[in-house]
This record gives sequence, structure tokens and C-alpha cells, in this order.
Amino acid sequence: MKSNISIEENEIYNDLFDNTYIGILVVDKNRDILLINKRFCEQFGYKENELIGYNIEKVHIDNRHFKEFGEIAFKHVLKKIPMSVDFQVKRKDGTTFWAKISGDPLKHKEHILWTVVDVSENYEIQEQFQEQTTLLKTVIDETPYPIVLKDFNAKFILVNEATAKLYGSSPEKMIGKDDGDFIPDKDMANFFRKNVQEIMKEGKTRIVYEDSIDVETNMTRNYMSIKKPFKNKDGKDFILVLANDITELNKKNEELSKKEKLLFQQSKMAAMGEMLANIAHQWRQPLSIISTAATGSKLQNDLGLLNKEDLNNVLETINLSTQHLSQTIDDFRNYFKKDKVAIDFNIEEAWNRTIDLINIRVKNYSINIIKDINSPNIKSFKNEFIQVFLNIANNGIDALKEIKEKRYLIIESESINSDIIIRIKDNAGGIDKNILEKIFDPYFTTKHQSQGTGIGLYMTEEIIVKHLKGEIYAENVEFTIDKKLQKGVQFTIKFNRNTNL
Ligand SMILES: Nc1ncnc2c1ncn2[C@@H]1O[C@H](COP(=O)(O)OP(=O)(O)OP(=O)(O)O)[C@@H](O)[C@H]1O
Ligand SMILES: [Mg+2]
Repeated sequence: MKSNISIEENEIYNDLFDNTYIGILVVDKNRDILLINKRFCEQFGYKENELIGYNIEKVHIDNRHFKEFGEIAFKHVLKKIPMSVDFQVKRKDGTTFWAKISGDPLKHKEHILWTVVDVSENYEIQEQFQEQTTLLKTVIDETPYPIVLKDFNAKFILVNEATAKLYGSSPEKMIGKDDGDFIPDKDMANFFRKNVQEIMKEGKTRIVYEDSIDVETNMTRNYMSIKKPFKNKDGKDFILVLANDITELNKKNEELSKKEKLLFQQSKMAAMGEMLANIAHQWRQPLSIISTAATGSKLQNDLGLLNKEDLNNVLETINLSTQHLSQTIDDFRNYFKKDKVAIDFNIEEAWNRTIDLINIRVKNYSINIIKDINSPNIKSFKNEFIQVFLNIANNGIDALKEIKEKRYLIIESESINSDIIIRIKDNAGGIDKNILEKIFDPYFTTKHQSQGTGIGLYMTEEIIVKHLKGEIYAENVEFTIDKKLQKGVQFTIKFNRNTNL
């Protein structure tokens, strides 16, 4: 009975010895290999006869590793102290792996039994994790944006370099403290605390525009902060704050709007200058009539030749002329009144008004105005249309006065569905291709300093696009009038008459 059991036990042990997942190795005190199991051979890639009788140095990475293992493990086990270490060892093909090696001194003999388990996978996972953690930490620390993690009391749990720099501290020193420990403005620190607590209570991510102080320079900086609250697995509240520094952006925006205002102001001034020049033109004629009438009648009177009828005639002339003077003033004053509300008017009315205002130029340079307007009334800002037409027409006349041929300024307008299309063209020859791209840029001009500022078309585009919500573009066109081929620039304005202004 007893021997039967021992046979079975032996079989079981043999089976176990070779089929276990664990590599088994027995060495003597010179560290020569006495016994190995199948698994051990597989782990190291050797055949049994390639190892038995050899020194275990064979499976160590090099002599240094072999000696090191002797110090930290082999010697201890010899002194009957069981031992388990993770150690890197070498396969037959030269590759290495991490093994958990556990040693036990065998009873009675001076042999040591080692078990070997391949734990490379654990190490790989650990290494990957380490790598990812380092990467994440680098990203968090390298980003120029402050990133912090706070608990419910607004104490820092995690702080990146950008935040630490702002607070003149280091990430390590900041952990466990709050904003109040760093920024002198207590109200600001209180706001930060209350704000994150509110968001944690609400449990919803929020974007907060807030200011903070750069402790080093004592400068206020503007932030757009994303604050994301969350709970950990124990239900504790935390909040992640990602602060986006928008100080420079704000500054740029401010500068931009200042610039825009300045441009608008300049354009008004330029328009005003144009108006004054026009008024001066319009006044020259009536003023000279008045002057002639007055000096003539004074002479007559001095000579005693002025009768009542003559005097009446002279006074009537002066009266008419002054009326004309005051009419021109009214015209221009009306033009300068800013439209407050959109009014009902027709494109043709606005165009006629424009030509009235520049009539002197039209006559002086013998410009033929051709109108073909077939569009319905619109509800819009009439004076803005007049300003647009003035800029385009004046540019046209500037170009036309340089040509010898018969000069044309043509306006056409039509409506397609609810779109209104206006085309204004001249036959002055057109614009160079590389110039054409720039004509709507502010300050772009090809004219002499005293003639042009280069903001006419810039303002025109601003008005059409921003105020009237339409579009405008310019192109070179060819057309025929009186069977003659004409070349010039055409401005096309397009907008929807149903757009709410
Ligand atoms: N009809 C046109 N024919 C040829 N060139 C044109 C025409 N309209 C505009 N341009 C070109 O576009 C440029 C820019 O026009 P814009 O009205 O913006 O400025 P400007 O007329 O030079 O000066 P201002 O600010 O006094 O109007 C002009 O200098 C000119 O070179
Ligand atoms: Mg112009």
C-alpha cells in the first residue's frame, strides 16, 4: 500500500517537475548546473545537455551581472536565507528578460534550488506606464498654459511649471496650499476658491474669464479658464483648471479696434475734405455773381446812375445766389447726417444725389453718365449708399480724366430674386492685375499724396460688407458703346434686399 502511494507520488512529482510553468534549476556551491527542468530550457532557449554541468554564468548577461547576483542572492541562500529577486538574465540568442528568481537551500546538501518565473511582461507594462507618466508630466509642464488640480477646499493637488512660474514658486512647494498663499490680492484668491467650489457643487464644466497676477512682475494677466469638476472613486470632489492666457490677444483686439476707429475717423475727415472742396467749387460761381453785382451797382450809384429798377434786379440776383449758396450747404449737411434707421429709397435716387454732389467734376471733365437702373425700392441706409457711390464715381472720374477718348461712367442695377446687383463701370482702361488685388486694402493708393489717401475703397468695402451685409468686388471688363470697344474697371455690389439691417 505504502509503496504504491510513493510510486504515484513520484509520478506526480516527475510530471510536475517537467510540466510546471516555473523554471527549476539546481546548482552546487560553485554555481555549476546540476539539474534543470523542461521549462527552464524553454525559458533560456537551450537544450538540457547544453546546460547540465556548465556554470550558471552562461545565462547571466555578463560577468558583472553574474557576480552581482552572487552578492545579492547566491551568498544569502548559501547562508540558508531564502531569497527572491527580480533579475535580468540572458537567453541563448543573446536577448534578455526579467525573471523573478527565488532560491531555497536544499536540506542536507550544499545545493541550491532556484525557481525562475518570466516576469518581463510586468516590466514592460511598468515601463510603458512610466514612459506615459513621464510623457504626460512633460506635456503638462512644458505647456505655457497654467494647469492645476484642486480639491474641494481649493488646495493644490497638482500644479504645472507654468502655474508655479506665475506664482514665483515651484510645483512641489505649491502642493497642499491655495492661491491665497501666493497672490497678495485676497479678494482675488477668495474669488478663485468660491468659483471652483461653486462649479464643483454644480458639477458642470465652465469657461470662466478671469484675471490673475503674475507675482514676479506684479502684472495683471487675463485668462480664459476651463474648469472641469469631477469626483474620484470615493466620491471626493476635485476640479481641473486649464487657464488660457489671453492677455496678448486682448491687447491685439484693443489695438485693432483702435485702428479701425482711427481709420473710420480718417475716412470721415477725408470725406469732409472732399465735401469742403466741392462746396468751395460750387460757391465760386455764385460768389463771383454776388461780387460783380455788388461792385457794379456801387459804381453805378457813385455815378448817380442807379435807378430803382436796377437796384431791385441786383438785389434779386444777390438773393438768388445766396439761396444757392445756402442750398449747397444744406445738401452737404444732409449728406453728413448719419442715418439712424433704414429708410425706403431707390438706387436711382441715391445715384442722382451722388452726381449732384460731384456735378462740377462731371461737367469739368465732360463725363457722360449712363444709367440703366431696374431695381425696386429698398429699405437701407441711403447716405451710406451715397458714400459708396461717391467713392466709386470719384475714382472713376480720377481715372477718366487721364484719357483722351469720350469718357463714360455707367451704372446698371437689376434685381434677381431677392438679390440686388449694382454694377458701376468706366472706360478709363482698367487696373493692372497686381494692383487690382490691393485696391480694397487700407492706405493703398497709386495717386499722389495730395490726391489720394487710399482709404476710399477700404471704407466702401467696410460699409458694404459690415453695415449692409453685402459683397463687393472689382474686375476689368470690356464692352462696346457706339460700336467701339471700351475697356475699364467694373465694381459689382450685391446684397439681399431682405437682410435685416
Ligand atoms: N476706376 C478705377 N480705374 C483705375 N484705377 C482705379 C479705379 N478705382 C480705383 N482705382 C485704383 O485703386 C486705388 C485705391 O482706390 P481708393 O479709392 O481706395 O484710394 P484713392 O482713390 O487712391 O484715395 P482716396 O482715399 O482719396 O479715395 C486707386 O489709387 C487706384 O489706383
Ligand atoms: Mg478713391
